[in-house]
Amino acid sequence: MSIPTIDQPASAGRAEPRTSILSLRGASKSFGAVAALTDIDLEVAAGEVVAIVGDNGAGKSTLVKVLSGVHLPDAGTITFESNQVTIPTPTAALDLGIATVFQDLALCDNLNVINNLFLGRELRPGRLDEVAMEVRSWELLRQLSAKIPSVRIPIAALSGGQRQTVAIARSLVGNPKVIILDEPTAALGVAQTAEVLNLVERLRERGLGVIMISHNMADVQAVADRVVVLRLGRNNGEFTVGAVSPEEIIAAITGATDNAVTRRTAQIDLRTASSLDKEVTS
Ligand SMILES: Nc1ncnc2c1ncn2[C@@H]1O[C@H](COP(=O)(O)OP(=O)(O)OP(=O)(O)O)[C@@H](O)[C@H]1O
Ligand SMILES: [Mg+2]
Repeated sequence: MSIPTIDQPASAGRAEPRTSILSLRGASKSFGAVAALTDIDLEVAAGEVVAIVGDNGAGKSTLVKVLSGVHLPDAGTITFESNQVTIPTPTAALDLGIATVFQDLALCDNLNVINNLFLGRELRPGRLDEVAMEVRSWELLRQLSAKIPSVRIPIAALSGGQRQTVAIARSLVGNPKVIILDEPTAALGVAQTAEVLNLVERLRERGLGVIMISHNMADVQAVADRVVVLRLGRNNGEFTVGAVSPEEIIAAITGATDNAVTRRTAQIDLRTASSLDKEVTS
C-alpha cells in the first residue's frame, strides 16, 4: 500500500511532502435527523499541528469523538500509519496511539499530579509503585518543559494552565503518535495560554501529530501549521498558516461572502461589466 502524503504548498516553506500518520476520508455521522458530519476529510502528519476551527455546532467535537473512539462514523475510512482501521472504543484509540485531551480534562481534583497521570494505568497493576511513578511523572513533565511546582500536590491547588499541562502529560503516558486537544486554551489567561501553546510546540518537536480544536485565531496563528475549517458539518476550507489572514479564516467559518477578497473580486467584475457596456454603446 502506498503511504499517503500531505503536499505542502510552496508558500509553506516546506517543499517536502510529509508522511501522514492519521487520515480521515469521507467521514459522515448523523444523530437522528441531524447530520453532524458530512463527507469530512482530515489529515495530520508527524510533527504537524493541525487546527480545526468552526462555529458552534460545526461538528468539531463530533469529529474528535470519531477519532477518539467515542462515536463510530456512519461512513468513511480512517487510515492510521498506512493501515485502514476502525476505532470502535476509546481504548482502541489509545491502543492505536491516538490520545485525546477532552475539554473538561477529566482530572480528579482531590488526587495529586502523580495519581492523575497514572489513573487506571498504574505501572504495576494491583500495586502502586510510587517511586517509579514519581520518576516517570517528572520525566513526562520535563519533556514538556512544564512548570509544575510539585507532583505531590492535589490538582485542586493548580492553576488552569497547570491542569491543562497535567492533562496533556497524562495523554503522553501511553506514548501516542497523535494527540487531539479540544479547546486547550479556552478559559485560560494570557500567560497560561502562552504556556500551553509552548507545550503544543514541544509535542510537535517530539514528532507527534497534533490536532487542536480552537476558537481563538491568535492561538491558531501562533502554533498551527494548517487550519481546517468546518462549517455545518462539512469541510469549508483548508489554509496554510502564514499564507492566510485571520479575516479569510473567519470568512470561511461564518460562510460570509462579504469579506475583503470577495468584495475586491466583485469590484473587478463590476469594472469589467461597465467597460463592456461602454464598448457596446460606443
Ligand atoms: N450525541 C448527540 N446527539 C444528538 N445530536 C448531537 C450529538 N452530538 C452532537 N450533536 C449535534 O451535532 C452537531 C455538531 O455538534 P458538535 O458538538 O460536534 O459541534 P461543535 O463544532 O463541537 O460545537 P461547539 O463549538 O459548540 O462545541 C450539532 O448540531 C449538535 O447538536
Ligand atoms: Mg464542541
